[in-house]
This record gives sequence, structure tokens and C-alpha cells, in this order.
Amino acid sequence: MKIAIFASGGGSNFQAIADACESGHIPGQVVLCVVSRADAGVIQRAERMGIPQVVLQGSTAEWAPAVLKQLEEASVDLIVLAGFMKMIPMALIGRFPGRILNIHPALLPNFGGKGMYGMHVHEAVIAAGESESGATVHLVDQDYDTGPIVAQSRVPVLANDNAEDLAVRVLKAEHVLYPDVIRAFAENRVRVSGTHITIDPPRP
Ligand code: GRF
Repeated sequence: MKIAIFASGGGSNFQAIADACESGHIPGQVVLCVVSRADAGVIQRAERMGIPQVVLQGSTAEWAPAVLKQLEEASVDLIVLAGFMKMIPMALIGRFPGRILNIHPALLPNFGGKGMYGMHVHEAVIAAGESESGATVHLVDQDYDTGPIVAQSRVPVLANDNAEDLAVRVLKAEHVLYPDVIRAFAENRVRVSGTHITIDPPRP
């Protein structure tokens, strides 16, 4: 399975996924790294791993057709958003139905939507007095954080946590959850029935 990762930041999820491909945990290969900012740390990670990068230029109307062409030329099967801070245009969603994943650092449907990104999410979880948070992998539709949920991983919120403490704990959970979900896609173990998604256990 050929994977394109879209990112805008430091790229720790990019790294976890690329490492899982290299180690054979995911039977797949990261063939393209699409980046929305020229100063994103993920670029150095992709360079170190010899994975081609594309830095988006101009408006969505300008970059969408160019990226679509590159995805097709690289025969990409699955698009993985990992801290990607732009909306995915309909042209891409239509071309990869059920094949675009995002990870969100909370237990959706709570603490999602416009403005709920980065530390804002963890601050809101702590302010709400939640005893649990986590990460959610979902399919991408035309809105923020509303697509069908594929899998979640839970972590506790501890008594004296601040947003940074919680962010570290959730990010660690993401680095396990995201490769596991991508592996399930690569092994054809994901069952979609409308908006209900289940994952079969790994085959022995
Ligand atoms: C993660 O917390 C992810 O949930 C969110 O953006 C962050 C990306 O972190 N969508 P990184 O760039 O993968 O380190």
C-alpha cells in the first residue's frame, strides 16, 4: 500500500508511520510527504528518510490539481493527514473515497470542530474537568473532524495535568494508534458500513 502523508508541523506522527513502514509493522510505503508550510519540521524528517516532499504553493484552487496529479503519478492508495492545518478540497475527497484519514488529539465527537486544534483541544479538555482524553482516527469528509470514526485510544487526565502534560500523553498514544490503524487498512481489515466502521483483529 502506498501512503501519502500530509503535515504542517513537527511531524512526530509522520515519523511513527514512516518508521512502522520501515520496520514492516505496516505493509506499506510512504511515497510522498505533502507539506503546507516551507518551515515545517516534518520536511527534515522526510529528507532524512529519502521521502519526496511537496510544499504547497498558492491557493487551494492552485495546489489541488497539482497535488492530485502527484498523488496519481505516485499511485497513492491512502492519504494520511498528520497535523495538516488546511481543509482538504472536495476534488481530493472525491478521488479517494474512504481513503483519507485524519488524527485528532481528543475523543471525538467531543472537543472537535473549527478552532479545536493543538493546545486549544487539551486546554478545553482540562477546563471541562474530564477524567479521560485520547486520540481519534477518522475518515475525512468536507467538514472539520466530523467524518466516521475509525478507532480511538484513551488516556487518563491526571489531577495536576496542564495542557502540555496532557498533550504529551495523547501524542504518545497517537504514535501507537495511527500506525495500527494504517496497518489495518493495508491488511484490508477495515469494514465500512455506512458511517459505522469496525476493524478485524490482525490475522495470526
Ligand atoms: C497531533 O496532535 C495530531 O493529533 C494533530 O496535530 C498534531 C500533529 O503532531 N492533528 P505531529 O506534527 O505529528 O508531531
